[in-house]
Amino acid sequence: MEVYLLHYLLLQSGGQSGVWTVSVIILSIGTWVGRVGPRPADGELALLTSPRERLETVRQVLSEVPLIDGHNDLPWNIRNFLHNQLAEFDFDRDLRQVAPWSKSAWSQTDLVRLRQGMVGGQFWAAYVPCESQYLNAVQLTLEQVDLIKRLIEKYSQHMQFAASSREILEAHGRGRIASLIGVEGGHSLGSSLAVLRTLYQLGVRYLTLTHTCNTPWAKSSSVEDDDEDGGGLTTFGEMVVKEMNRLGMLIDLSHTARATMRDALRISKAPLIFSHSSAFAICNSSRNVPDDILKQLADNGGLVMVTFYNYFVKCGPQASVSDVAEHIYYIRNLIGVDHIGVGGDFDGINKTPRGLEDVSKYPELFAELLRSGKWNVLDLKKVAGLNLLRVLKQVERVRDDLRTAGITPLEDLPDSPDTIGNCALDINSVQRVTEV
Ligand SMILES: *[C@@H]1O[C@H](CO)[C@@H](O)[C@H](O)[C@H]1NC(C)=O
Ligand SMILES: [Zn+2]
Repeated sequence: MEVYLLHYLLLQSGGQSGVWTVSVIILSIGTWVGRVGPRPADGELALLTSPRERLETVRQVLSEVPLIDGHNDLPWNIRNFLHNQLAEFDFDRDLRQVAPWSKSAWSQTDLVRLRQGMVGGQFWAAYVPCESQYLNAVQLTLEQVDLIKRLIEKYSQHMQFAASSREILEAHGRGRIASLIGVEGGHSLGSSLAVLRTLYQLGVRYLTLTHTCNTPWAKSSSVEDDDEDGGGLTTFGEMVVKEMNRLGMLIDLSHTARATMRDALRISKAPLIFSHSSAFAICNSSRNVPDDILKQLADNGGLVMVTFYNYFVKCGPQASVSDVAEHIYYIRNLIGVDHIGVGGDFDGINKTPRGLEDVSKYPELFAELLRSGKWNVLDLKKVAGLNLLRVLKQVERVRDDLRTAGITPLEDLPDSPDTIGNCALDINSVQRVTEV
């Protein structure tokens, strides 16, 4: 520590006179803190610690507050590689040593590395591709929800199912990874509020309103046209948002078109999230969040969980952990530290930043924030998990308030109206026949 400090001060001061006096004073403080004090909570001191000490501070932080990541696509890879047959899956092995994972650029997750990375909570994505829209999207989604639950059950020594802010803390307190389910893409609903309600009952706690396809009721960023002011959510889309408020499900705006973001921000009574998106001002991908939306998100008390895919971090194939930190600094300057989280999108990406190659590397990101000298321990805790916990609690409060106010399930539309285009039995025609 001492050697590092001296080196640092000499570099910073350019060897000017007075450096030795300053050094001695700072060294004394450093030694004192190191020997008798707690981990440095003050930004100035954090700047003067060594990389090893910064990591120690981060590890202390992540033992006190669960690091909750917004998005991981492992379940889809299990579908791809193993057809959801978990008997063949050794999640507690280092998958860098196990085929086919070892050969895939899309694999960055296993329990060994989740533990190294001190991940305390994870939203596992129940994702199914847009190609299944109007076909078997709902069935495939149910299968992914089932897969995630079976995975948690199989590795219950390490993972614990969580569906509330309280359950996240409970799992973390028991040293298990709080495992939540998020459905990525409104196409998984088959345009049915009954399906939405059932997914909630199964424990799904966020719905990303779109993936890369439009749904009949929400526009996706991937098919955004020039008509910037065009509608994002239809009347039914607004009903989906209201029903999510009533249920207590987080509304996720990653992948949605700007018009959808604006509509959802306007309609929702509860704070919203971006489960895996970064700052558009730094990398102008349509998957990232523009400044005006970030400001509205903060006004609603919501959260952007900064994502790591190189093409969203640097708009190119190369990026590093400090580039990810740049997004975090930018968002903090714009809307404050209360509205930032992390959503790595591991196992859903094939280009990861240098220094953030897999789920074992989260502490490096927090150590990088500490290195800037402008972050204290509470700031780190907020980004790691306190912000997400606050948002989820608020969503739960809105749910409880609506229940108290006597708001009942929305049934303005009949279930399975025959206008939604699903390749399916027209249930209404069957009923007419059997009634005769
Ligand atoms: C991002 O910026 C580049 C270079 O200025 C431009 O060519 C591209 O169209 C922009 N993309 C978006 C989504 O705005
Ligand atoms: Zn995604």
